Amino acid sequence: MKDFHDLIVNRRSIRRYTPEEISPEDVKTILEAALMAPTSKSSRAWHFVVVEDSKQLELLSKCKVSGAGPVAGCALAIVVAVDAKITEPWIEDASIAATYIQLQAEDLGLGSCWIQVKGRFTETDLESEVYVQNLLEMPDSIIPVCIITLGHKAEERKPQAVDKLQWEKVHIGTWTER
Ligand SMILES: Cc1cc2nc3c(=O)[nH]c(=O)nc-3n(C[C@H](O)[C@H](O)[C@H](O)COP(=O)(O)O)c2cc1C
Repeated sequence: MKDFHDLIVNRRSIRRYTPEEISPEDVKTILEAALMAPTSKSSRAWHFVVVEDSKQLELLSKCKVSGAGPVAGCALAIVVAVDAKITEPWIEDASIAATYIQLQAEDLGLGSCWIQVKGRFTETDLESEVYVQNLLEMPDSIIPVCIITLGHKAEERKPQAVDKLQWEKVHIGTWTER
């Protein structure tokens, strides 16, 4: 494992991928990470739909008007969804699991990108959540929050600019403008 801080510095959203598949071992490691993500009251109300079929990925990429292009070209996508009836902080729980997936992928040398679903719409003004539910035959009660695209990196991105961090957003003790 890389140093964790280095991993954070080097993780960037990767939107272009090689055609190489992700090994079953790596897929398992990534899903293990997702299933170990913390949840409010340990509700573990999330569900993860793994999509590898290229035709399904193409259709999934049409889940919103723009910004879902990487889904069509990724090796595998994980739809992070949650049973919102079980837990009130469902967005938080799903978001943490999605972040775990991205960080685990980076640790394995894979690229990933978060594709927002919740609150978005298709070209025909259908809610993206409903589009994804219909496509993947999901129950109405399970809300897709985002799609994490995964694949071997076909682009290089600069690491985070550690020297340009917005330290003015940090307020010590009380809210002090800096
Ligand atoms: C809540 C959320 C929604 C995002 N939605 C999209 C998206 O729909 N499409 C996309 O290409 N990137 C999306 N991203 C990736 C962001 O654009 C990216 O994280 C941001 O530009 C910072 O770049 P970095 O991840 O390389 O540091 C999303 C990220 C987050 C956290």
